[in-house]
Amino acid sequence: MGRAGPRTRVVRPGGRAGVRAGRGGGAGRGRDVAAAGLDVRGNRLWWGGTACERLVERFGSPLYVYDAEVIRARARALRAAFTWPRTRLLYSCKANSNPAVLRLLRGEGYGIDAVSPGEIALALRSGFGRGDILYTGNNVTDDELRFALSRRVRITADSLSQLERLGRLAPGTSIALRVNPDVGAGHHDHVITGGPESKFGVWIDQLREAKRLARRAGLRIVGLHQHVGSGILDAEVFLDAMEVLLDLSGGFPDLEFLDFGGGLGVPAKTGQEPLDVRALGAMLSARFGRACERAGRGLTMVLEPGRFLVAEAGVLLARVNTVKRTPEHIFAGTDSGFHHLIRHPLYGAHHEIVNATRVTGPEEFVAVCGHVCESGDLFTHGRSISRLREGDVVAVLQAGAYGFAMSMQYNSRPRPAEVLVDGGRARVIRRRETLADLWRTVEGGKGGKGGKKKPQMNTDGHR
Ligand code: LLP
Repeated sequence: MGRAGPRTRVVRPGGRAGVRAGRGGGAGRGRDVAAAGLDVRGNRLWWGGTACERLVERFGSPLYVYDAEVIRARARALRAAFTWPRTRLLYSCKANSNPAVLRLLRGEGYGIDAVSPGEIALALRSGFGRGDILYTGNNVTDDELRFALSRRVRITADSLSQLERLGRLAPGTSIALRVNPDVGAGHHDHVITGGPESKFGVWIDQLREAKRLARRAGLRIVGLHQHVGSGILDAEVFLDAMEVLLDLSGGFPDLEFLDFGGGLGVPAKTGQEPLDVRALGAMLSARFGRACERAGRGLTMVLEPGRFLVAEAGVLLARVNTVKRTPEHIFAGTDSGFHHLIRHPLYGAHHEIVNATRVTGPEEFVAVCGHVCESGDLFTHGRSISRLREGDVVAVLQAGAYGFAMSMQYNSRPRPAEVLVDGGRARVIRRRETLADLWRTVEGGKGGKGGKKKPQMNTDGHR
């Protein structure tokens, strides 16, 4: 058991086995609007059956809008693709944890991959049963473990330390174990979660020790877990990673499931081939089925997609309020920024940007930016799009995953509202924050009377 020695293989977009290809970032000139498939009427962009301008007039700007039909379509496509009868799909709700989205995916038969007590609580409040939730935290405290144990959700141990502590807190529990399979991939170094550079999971050489610790505490390891990274468009990576876990599974007699994590990517710009999800599902199901047959046990295959289900359903709408020229650039300044969608500054991620007010027209090479007081506050460093004028609405696409979920109040800006469009109806699923929300939690603010309350357990404030 345990593959020793360096076999790290890191795959980045555009190439296999360590080939570094141009990361996201400035797309360069030329039309690359993934406008194919967009709903354009009268040269205006529509989302979920309503004109974006109309949505902003009605609900304010900036605004996140999600199309329920797109989420359902992705959820169904994935379910249909995995033909192994014992497949369990868990929605990785860190991508978008709005309860309305959670409920929608519960309706599609998905469970939840949770990474924090907050996500467990949100899932329970959104109607998921405790058996539908797998808690895979990283560097968790004993308080967090107690929280998960008290809610009786299944826990994935991410380290030897956690195993030991779980053994003390809840001997005899059935748990899963996260393995670092020494295979990593992803759209950016920050999201590659396998290999020696990664803080996640138990390194494969330490599995013997993990088993010893588990045995001592009577913990039953009923699942093995891995997640190699995020934004993967190369189906082979998933198969390679699967092989590692299948290889290891023979050493774990109590196994009920193998969890291969998430990571299914969506193409961000033209030239990137989408994952053929049907082929991927068929390939992984066949490989998994053969392994089960050979081993003489019918395990459950678990996957934890996040981005794939919600990214393309969402758009961030913002209004241009200032167009400014320097000798180098035209800046189209909006009322949003990286505090609402940080993926471009953080990962160099590419998001298509559309002038929702005039989808086509004479184009201009423009840097679309926000109102945050940092020069890196850009949705794109430069893109050729239909000329933006003050008052126009811009749509930043593929904002349904890791958009609002990673937003913050930096510069003391309240966060935008979220709207879900479903069956032709648009409704607010999270109200826009107000100035009062900025001081609700601080000393002297409503709910923040310092010193009077019992001290909270830890910074997450759960009990
Ligand atoms: N399972 C585990 C254990 C994970 O850590 C993640 C994502 C997923 C599932 C879901 O991965 P997905 O299917 O969404 O790729 N903020 C980054 C992505 C970080 C992903 C973190 N872990 C971004 O905006 O690209």
